[in-house]
Amino acid sequence: MAYFWFKAFHLIGVVVWFAGLFYLVRLFVYHAEASQEPEPAQTILKNQYQIMEKRLYHIITMPGMVVTVAMAIGLLTTEPEVLKSGWMHIKLAFVVALLAYHFYCGRLMRQLEAGECNWSGQHFRALNEAPTVLLLVIVLLAVFKNSFPTDISAWLTFGLIIVMAASIQLYAKKRKRDKARRLAAEASQTEQEMSGQLSA
Ligand code: HEM
Repeated sequence: MAYFWFKAFHLIGVVVWFAGLFYLVRLFVYHAEASQEPEPAQTILKNQYQIMEKRLYHIITMPGMVVTVAMAIGLLTTEPEVLKSGWMHIKLAFVVALLAYHFYCGRLMRQLEAGECNWSGQHFRALNEAPTVLLLVIVLLAVFKNSFPTDISAWLTFGLIIVMAASIQLYAKKRKRDKARRLAAEASQTEQEMSGQLSA
């Protein structure tokens, strides 16, 4: 029975952890793009994002990670033979990568706060795709275990990376086009106002 309790809270921990990881790097995107705003909006926005990032990291993401790992230890102590399975060894390797990503995000957060991070919004958008790939592989390993479908999973992961990279590029182009349109509209409005003033 203890095993089921550990598994239930292991999965709840995973959901909370990933919600935090995904939203944290999205906040980094907005934080980095706030540098393009004029003052005083830039300082106000950056201060607000810093507060949101810190709260999210310490109150949601970190506890999510602790619950996931603590419940995993509970699972392994109740059923230690799981540790002998090949799928578990591979899963643990990906979990180590996920933990490295988690703490790297913490480091980026501190660098953003100190104004020492030169990453663009586009860089953060690309970084935010890493946990999606880790989530896919870890969940497939946990579900299929030793009958893990290596070929299909490799193609799925590859396809996912291509789709995500293409979406980031397309979205960047759209944002560029929208910005050019907005600037052109503003310029023509200023022109009309000036010619109106001259004729008056
Ligand atoms: C701290 C490292 C982790 C360890 C030691 C660990 C260990 C375990 C163990 C022993 C089980 C039970 C397997 C079974 O009943 O057959 C399990 C289930 C599961 N784990 Fe983890 N886990 C870890 C991290 C993660 C992470 C980060 C994720 C998600 C990204 C994850 C997703 C899952 C899922 C979806 C299941 C349910 C699988 C099923 O019942 O079919 N685990 N984990």
